[in-house]
Amino acid sequence: MTGRFIVVDGVDGAGKSTQVERLAAALRARGHAVHVTGEPSGWPIGQLIRRYLRGELRDGVPGWSSMALLFAADRMQHVEHEILPHLEAGEVVLCDRYDPSSIAYQSAIGPDGADRTELMRWIALLNGHARRPDLVLLLDLDPQLAAARRTQRGGEAELYETLELQRRIRACYAELPAVRPNDRLVRVDASRSIDEVHAQMLAEALALLDVSR
Ligand code: TYD
Repeated sequence: MTGRFIVVDGVDGAGKSTQVERLAAALRARGHAVHVTGEPSGWPIGQLIRRYLRGELRDGVPGWSSMALLFAADRMQHVEHEILPHLEAGEVVLCDRYDPSSIAYQSAIGPDGADRTELMRWIALLNGHARRPDLVLLLDLDPQLAAARRTQRGGEAELYETLELQRRIRACYAELPAVRPNDRLVRVDASRSIDEVHAQMLAEALALLDVSR
């Protein structure tokens, strides 16, 4: 039987990586074979994207729309060469970020005054042939709380800008159900303790895996 595809996504600083690790460990402890991956992927297009994100490549830095296309291309390569083979082997594939990140980030970064919903729909369409996840766990956290968790202090202006963008990103995530009505999206309140967040995520994952057995 084919495996199950679970995506963990959400705003920066919500504790995604910690939760992905804990969820993988808990599922393995229950006897599931789990393949952990994430995006941008480790495949060539993903590596190129990371070089741009780190500011290592200064030549022809892609704007929001070419970035959306790069992320979509990386995703399709990731699906074809990594995600599908592991699913076909019957494993649980746990992916740290997937097309919800593209839909939320690239449309939030899009031009000022743009129709945000229209941008979200375009990016959703671009990713229309990417394997749909069986479950998407969306970690939601007030960007101010996320920033406070990350740093004790920050330059006022810079922090403000970052917060503005993070707020737009969060608002786009909140609109995701309208753009991806057929995906099983579950909002997870990440302001709670690591244990509480983990418990909800594990319960959701087990509910999916138990019915698929
Ligand atoms: P990474 O360092 O992996 O961030 P995180 O640990 O928060 O996952 O870098 C990924 C960055 O790329 C993150 O800021 C979100 C962004 N991103 C997009 O803008 N669009 C996408 O489709 C994906 C997958 C990530």
